[in-house]
Amino acid sequence: MIPQPTAQQALPDETFTLPTDATIGVDDPSARPIADRLAAQLRTSTGFALPVQEGAGTITLSTKGPAALGTEGYELRADGSGVTITAATDEGLFRGVTSLRQLLPAKAESSTQQDGPWEIAGTTISDAPRYGYRGVMLDVTRHFFTVDQVKHFIDLVSLYKINRLHLHLSDDQGWRIQVDSWPRLTEYGGSLQVGGGRGGSYSKAEYAEIVRYAAERFITVVPEIDTPGHTNAALASYPELNPDGVAPKLYTETEVGFSSLTVALDRTYEFLDDVFREVAEQTPGDVVHLGGDEAHSTPHSDYLTFVPKAAELVVKQGKTVMGWHEIADGPLPAGTVVQYWGTEDEKAQALAVKAVEQGATLVLSPANRAYLDMKYHAETPLGLDWAGLVSVEQAYDWNPATLIPGVPSSAIRGVEAPLWTETLDDLEKVEFMVFPRLPGIAELGWSPESALDWTTYKDRLAEQGPRWEVLGVNFYRAPEIDWR
Ligand code: ACM
Repeated sequence: MIPQPTAQQALPDETFTLPTDATIGVDDPSARPIADRLAAQLRTSTGFALPVQEGAGTITLSTKGPAALGTEGYELRADGSGVTITAATDEGLFRGVTSLRQLLPAKAESSTQQDGPWEIAGTTISDAPRYGYRGVMLDVTRHFFTVDQVKHFIDLVSLYKINRLHLHLSDDQGWRIQVDSWPRLTEYGGSLQVGGGRGGSYSKAEYAEIVRYAAERFITVVPEIDTPGHTNAALASYPELNPDGVAPKLYTETEVGFSSLTVALDRTYEFLDDVFREVAEQTPGDVVHLGGDEAHSTPHSDYLTFVPKAAELVVKQGKTVMGWHEIADGPLPAGTVVQYWGTEDEKAQALAVKAVEQGATLVLSPANRAYLDMKYHAETPLGLDWAGLVSVEQAYDWNPATLIPGVPSSAIRGVEAPLWTETLDDLEKVEFMVFPRLPGIAELGWSPESALDWTTYKDRLAEQGPRWEVLGVNFYRAPEIDWR
């Protein structure tokens, strides 16, 4: 399994076999949708009727477990008489069902009817995550991805107990989320993408559909509006945001660091007030990400003036500020989440320490480990290499608790694997960069430190191959993995 559970024991004399007349029992109406989705998938692949009923079943899903299991914890038992998953919350139950899917044969994920037997080797599992934030980021600015494509992405990442989807929604090349009070952001600013082709954007209804679909899979969307740099699409849409009142052209290449909001202009903050209000209104989660990275054309003294003002506009909406680690150079509101994207450079590490000294927590996305857009090796046809080559082992073989010297493990909120899409214009390319590296980052976020071991992980990763084949995932068959 990936992520490796906190504790798992074999029941050597027991095997669960899903019988033709199996039922799924659920003891709480609120968990019914989880049971219904499991049933729907298994009906498709097994051809069994699999009615969902109240109370016990062949597979019993219970949310009446002790509170000590926590929000995401669960227990699972599979033996000769059935499968029971017990949690204290719907979310914990969902994580347990995710484990059940991995215990079943890969063909259980099929979209067409398959032959059994549908067996699980007897086992007991007791499981809960190491970190509360286990994220993946999708850049929908450099190339735009439709609601259906994002849903497919959500389905795939949810298999590995990812619980945050960070959407990078605005950048130089495009503005992708509707803002009613500034409609040209999407109408004009979202019209193109890298390479000059047609871009796109999410209407409020479409964005709400992404948020809803993610929430159904217990994934919280973290929206990012990147400021004060990475703002050419906004500046091109509204001349009034520019110091000389002249809008730049739309931009469809991939250089970074040339654009900046105008720090001295009152209109800049009226703009951001509207944007953060409308984005926060569409965000059930507690966090709004204000970017803050690579503001190379914002004078540093302006940057230090800007960030607290922008942060205050997020806080005003009742949201927690999240930002890339550069924001830690100035004062941060209480509870800020700082996303570390450095490699091993001392300047970035010093900013992480400075963040923690201010009471911030860290989400770790070290670019030379967790950036899913880095090439696997020198000949990888897609991706970039500015942070180095990131093999499957390189992505997995690090410890979040000790990554940054001088940062205590108590300051680590979790991990996130960002996928930037300068070179990725369709889902097959996205899948190629995400799989097989994302499961490793997901395991670093979930599994206990004692379980992390490349040699045994490699074997567990190999077993995911048949699953991805059944699901039609275009994964990179890294030669160092002994794919089944
Ligand atoms: C970043 O990669 N500019 C956060």
